[in-house]
Amino acid sequence: MKVLESEFAKGFIRMADDGWQLRYHERNGGNLSYRIRPEEIEEVREDLVEGDWREIGAVANEVAGEYFMVTGSGKFFRNVILNPEEAAGIIEISDDGSKYRVVWGLINGTVPTSELPSHLLNQSVKKRVTGGKNRVIYHAHPANVIALTFILPLDDKVFTRELWEMMTECPIVFPEGIGVVPWMVPGGREIAEASAKLMEEHNAVIWAHHGLFAAGEDFDLAFGLFHTIEKSAEILLKVMNVTDKKRQTIQPDDFRRLAEAFNVKLPEKYLYEKK
Ligand code: 13P
Ligand code: ZN
Repeated sequence: MKVLESEFAKGFIRMADDGWQLRYHERNGGNLSYRIRPEEIEEVREDLVEGDWREIGAVANEVAGEYFMVTGSGKFFRNVILNPEEAAGIIEISDDGSKYRVVWGLINGTVPTSELPSHLLNQSVKKRVTGGKNRVIYHAHPANVIALTFILPLDDKVFTRELWEMMTECPIVFPEGIGVVPWMVPGGREIAEASAKLMEEHNAVIWAHHGLFAAGEDFDLAFGLFHTIEKSAEILLKVMNVTDKKRQTIQPDDFRRLAEAFNVKLPEKYLYEKK
């Protein structure tokens, strides 16, 4: 089978296009990676080639030997659906987790996203903590989440609680809360390690003044999480535009009742009393 006929490639392309339609991707902003199942890679084996091994810039030994579909560096998300073979591709990770080679796509001299270290370290952590279930890591530049990083303290507890309060479904969608990385230089090992550390506990990590990373078992779950967080940030900004005081909101005890009703665990550290 050709890669572009496979369900995973179709899902990847659809998600990239959904992100473009929702205005998460100005220019080349954002990147996406999907950890391909062994049976999925076998289905498209006839369409694969073997490129040269290159350094990742970090060691991702928990995903050694795995294959990923990834977006290309500098490539525009709006072009993924129009020219997937140039805007995206498939890479194989070496047995020691330090190198990759292109086996499909990324044509015309394209290289994988500059955030490859973050994707692969996040993929490694999420693979481990979910017992192999997590497959998708998604990064984009959503305007409302980024705006909040200029207003709220850069604290996991504050971001989680404020975003939970904005829609009753939020604590059910991300009960484990959101991690926040302070401003750092993107595209390298340092920010990748800081993000991966937070991904041990969370499925979403905000990069201050930059964007959001979301993890999920499949395209729907990763995209749905990202979308929910950005919508919640939009509501919070609407409220803040009008007032700095909420007349009423969801209280800590309400969250506790919600947790019981929906059978989710909400860590008490997010249910602090506000002054
Ligand atoms: P790439 O085009 O290299 O994926 O970079 C975009 C981006 O969002 C960097 O954080
Ligand atoms: Zn970015």
